Amino acid sequence: MKLSRRVEQLPSQFFAALAGKVAAAIAEGRDIINLGQGNPDQPTPPHIIRALQESVENPVTHKYSPFRGTDELKLAAAQFYKREYDVDLDPASEIAILFGSKIGLVELPLALMDHGELMLLPDPGYPDYLSSVPLADVTYDTFPLLEENDFLPDYTALTDEQKKLAKLLYLNYPNNPTGAVATKEFFEDTIALAQKNDIGIIHDFAYGAIGFDDYQPVSFLQTEGAKDVGVELYTLSKTYNMAGWRVGFAAGNKDMIEAINILQDHLFVSLFPAIQKAAAEALSGDQSCVSSLVKLYEQRRNVLLEECKRIGWDVTAPKGSFFAWLPVPAAFTSEEFADYLLKEANVAVAAGNGFGKTGEGYIRVGLLVEDERIREAICRIEKLDLFQNKH
Ligand SMILES: Cc1ncc(COP(=O)(O)O)c(C=O)c1O
Repeated sequence: MKLSRRVEQLPSQFFAALAGKVAAAIAEGRDIINLGQGNPDQPTPPHIIRALQESVENPVTHKYSPFRGTDELKLAAAQFYKREYDVDLDPASEIAILFGSKIGLVELPLALMDHGELMLLPDPGYPDYLSSVPLADVTYDTFPLLEENDFLPDYTALTDEQKKLAKLLYLNYPNNPTGAVATKEFFEDTIALAQKNDIGIIHDFAYGAIGFDDYQPVSFLQTEGAKDVGVELYTLSKTYNMAGWRVGFAAGNKDMIEAINILQDHLFVSLFPAIQKAAAEALSGDQSCVSSLVKLYEQRRNVLLEECKRIGWDVTAPKGSFFAWLPVPAAFTSEEFADYLLKEANVAVAAGNGFGKTGEGYIRVGLLVEDERIREAICRIEKLDLFQNKH
């Protein structure tokens, strides 16, 4: 059967191709250290699992959820923002429950944009931002995130045309793939740009909980005026190791939240109520699991940095997220280097160009395996004798 143009034009899934290469190498019986993926390796904390177990015993949770999600979860989300960021949100009108944040990233252009309208996307950036281009029948331009600007966009480089035409602009800090973080001043500049040019801001805060060296990542909503121009997408996938549960929420601008809710009224009947119950417990229960998780990632990051330094690989420390963005030796493109590491060192990494053309010259390494495996990966790379300045 002929597929719709909408579906035919969807970009091929970058991570699926990588997963295929890794699976093929494992099928050959090779011991692959997989630093290429972004799937949290730790289990969901027990108190959240218990909340699901108890909740699923109650037949009330077997019924349809309220269309727009339970009041309990929306209240928990609002209280979470108050507690963590001192941001006031009205649970009924400023929060929309999502099946994970990925769906929200696609729903926003579907709900807010018309044929041919323009969105602005970061390069490098999370590849799934592109999914909404054919689905919502919109166009996009990218703006580069450069190391010399700490991987923050330089808004002065946007053209007048881009500023005039853009309907939405996507940001993501702590950043996948670079590990960079935003500042309050940067968000002030963003809001000024949005107000002046009538651009909606979507801040993808997937790694909001993961900041290193005692740094708590700033929420976009903490900056005055944020709610007038945009929304922030929060997910429980990373903060509470709940990637498979599919639960997150959008928070902020009332009109944008209402647009998501109207679209979702026609697509879903919200999440399984027992998952909403467990998600409320995650957001409002004991948070020591979050600080332990951040410590674990920080420890792994430190191991990676030490090891890279030891073999002479000049690497900048990520300030947040669970990724490191490493420069590729001059003799290789990103893809050649990723293929080379998989073939010669049995180490899988994500080639930087998969995140956009500005990602060329880098690879992304995930901190999602144990310390010992990180050490082992760098020891294997050391044997390839690629770096000069050994310590
Ligand atoms: C930057 C970024 N945004 C959004 C997501 C989607 O997360 P989820 O759909 O699990 O909430 C991811 C997942 O890897 C991500 O890296």
